[in-house]
Amino acid sequence: MPTTLRNSALLLSLMLGLGQAQASSQPSPTALATATGIPHPAVIAHRGASFDAPESTAPAYKLARDLGADYLELDLQRSKDGVLFALHDDNLQRTTDVASKFPERKDSPANQFTLAELKTLDAGSWFNSAYPDRARPSYIGLKILTLDEIIDIARGNPLHKPGLYIETKEPKLFPGLERDLKDKLQDRGWLSPIGSKLAKGDIAVGQGKGKVVLQTFEKSSLELLQKEMPQVPKILLLWVGEGGIESKSNVTFAASGEQDKAAFYARQEPKDQAEFEKWVDYAKAQGAVGTGPSAALTGGGDQSYSDLVQPWMNSFAHDKGLLVHVYTIDEPVDYQKAMDAGVDGIFTNRSSELLKYFKRPAPATVAQLLEANGY
Ligand code: G3P
Ligand code: CA
Repeated sequence: MPTTLRNSALLLSLMLGLGQAQASSQPSPTALATATGIPHPAVIAHRGASFDAPESTAPAYKLARDLGADYLELDLQRSKDGVLFALHDDNLQRTTDVASKFPERKDSPANQFTLAELKTLDAGSWFNSAYPDRARPSYIGLKILTLDEIIDIARGNPLHKPGLYIETKEPKLFPGLERDLKDKLQDRGWLSPIGSKLAKGDIAVGQGKGKVVLQTFEKSSLELLQKEMPQVPKILLLWVGEGGIESKSNVTFAASGEQDKAAFYARQEPKDQAEFEKWVDYAKAQGAVGTGPSAALTGGGDQSYSDLVQPWMNSFAHDKGLLVHVYTIDEPVDYQKAMDAGVDGIFTNRSSELLKYFKRPAPATVAQLLEANGY
């Protein structure tokens, strides 16, 4: 473009408020959250209150609800006979006694089991062995939960009505999952407006327009979710690695010979700035209301990944009019780091700690609430 024309174009764009000014014309993250009915900052109970009770089981979800979390997070799968249920891993070994109940099928994907078979499994005892300091006799024999049962829990406290934050897990294993989810949410009244009768200060997320948030790592699933439920807020989950944001390094964890998974992932970073921005742009173009990036945790651990909540990354998402909900943080030092970097919500296994950090006092202690629910 000739210089004179370029200068004229620049002048015109300044007069029209484009360029830099266009970025700031996006609503603030708080305004965006308000418009979508999503609390700001949002407390997202990752697999329930899964630090204090076995993940994705009734005590974990009831505790998160009663503590006052905004959302109950779950990973959605479908049984062999077509029932939607919550489980993180694609097989049952880590969190159930499948190896003793179905030894010949212990490595099989969870979707190869009928609901009746899944319901025979003990989804609580592993927690008592893994975390003896948090063990409770009542956790022995806990059941895997269906989506219907989690909906019942979300509605079960008259004063605390959290929303649902549902991930389509490994959606390529479940053709039609997005449609099945829509049908279930519709049947249960979660896709239509519900008038809130709660008082100010009570948790009413589950009665507003942000009562369901849909999340996925898979671009194809985001597109299907958008097609099935265009009115429901969606988050594209971000991570660096296979199937996600391309890494600067092409060495996988398995090939790296590294022993410390957290240290390996903490070193992973997007190939370049443009690669990160491409994913955010994609989320925006597909109708998502935000992104769900990973975090590198100060203390490391299994849920520590690449640091995708650097301030420039969050600013880029905000400039596109997107929210940022970071996963999965349990320690105050990391809550502070993420909030300072500009995130709009946090996935946590420790809802009690995050609520304390946000100065949103729970009505009782973790032990009292577990006991009140019979655990
Ligand atoms: O859904 C956000 C966060 O849960 C992603 O990690 O593996 O725990 O589902 P994951
Ligand atoms: Ca998840």
